[in-house]
Amino acid sequence: MLFRPTEYRAHLEEAVEHLGQELGPAPEAVLCLGSGLGGQSARLSSAKEGLAFEQIPHFPVPTVAGHSGWLIVEEGQAGKYCRLHGRVHLYEGLSIQDVVFPVRAVALWGVRIFVLTNAAGGIGRHLLPGDLMLITDHLNLLGDNPLVGAVGNDFGERFPDMSESYSPNLVELAELCASDLGVVLKRGVYAAVKGPSYETPAEIRMLRSLGADAVGMSTVPEVIALRQMGRDILGLSLITNRAAGMHEGDLNHEEVLRVAGNSAEIVARFGVKVIERSLLGRARDSV
Ligand code: HPA
Repeated sequence: MLFRPTEYRAHLEEAVEHLGQELGPAPEAVLCLGSGLGGQSARLSSAKEGLAFEQIPHFPVPTVAGHSGWLIVEEGQAGKYCRLHGRVHLYEGLSIQDVVFPVRAVALWGVRIFVLTNAAGGIGRHLLPGDLMLITDHLNLLGDNPLVGAVGNDFGERFPDMSESYSPNLVELAELCASDLGVVLKRGVYAAVKGPSYETPAEIRMLRSLGADAVGMSTVPEVIALRQMGRDILGLSLITNRAAGMHEGDLNHEEVLRVAGNSAEIVARFGVKVIERSLLGRARDSV
């Protein structure tokens, strides 16, 4: 599909205007919940202050089971924050500009802190289903980048630095929150591949030799777009399965959703805790 930067920018402006009209001023932070992590709670809490992706102009609507497609505003202990339940992926046949549209819109609305979560296959031998992994860095193996095309100049640097994509400050807060909640937090490098087929065992050996600890089909487009916009990012992978070749039997999406569903509450609680600590820190700094 032909990409038209001017039209894209206009679509974003419409979406941002709608968010402001319907939900008021932007909160400081957002928690983005990936595969199977956004679940039914979105539908319940959406009744008061939330919008389905269908209601927001030009928002891409997820087509995959496990992705509900809601933007919810919550009143936390340290102030307002929002949740994005569900995302779209390159494998759904959308362009990478569509994939990053929701986070760009939310960033332009005014959100500064992004906690991005996903489900991933564990490549590192230390990673088991149910583990939570802080993303310390990534490998972009998507063969695409959201900054390609004239649109790149609209949002920040043409050639943004990616050497500290995941905010050291948020990583430090996450470590503190993990000990508060009694959550074991592992660390690792996330490799993003396009999917939707799972990897072959040979591909997993290749990814390991490249330095990947976990593999998934999302998140990296958003991280690149948000880095260009100068936003603070924390990345969290829930390990839902051991990767191909280390996994007994066939890999399947149902297993990913089941394991994600079992850990959805703790992932959300953990993400919210990091956001609240971060908001409290900012409030203290501004006194
Ligand atoms: N590979 C790619 N993406 C994934 C996996 C996997 O093993 N598990 C969850 N998302």
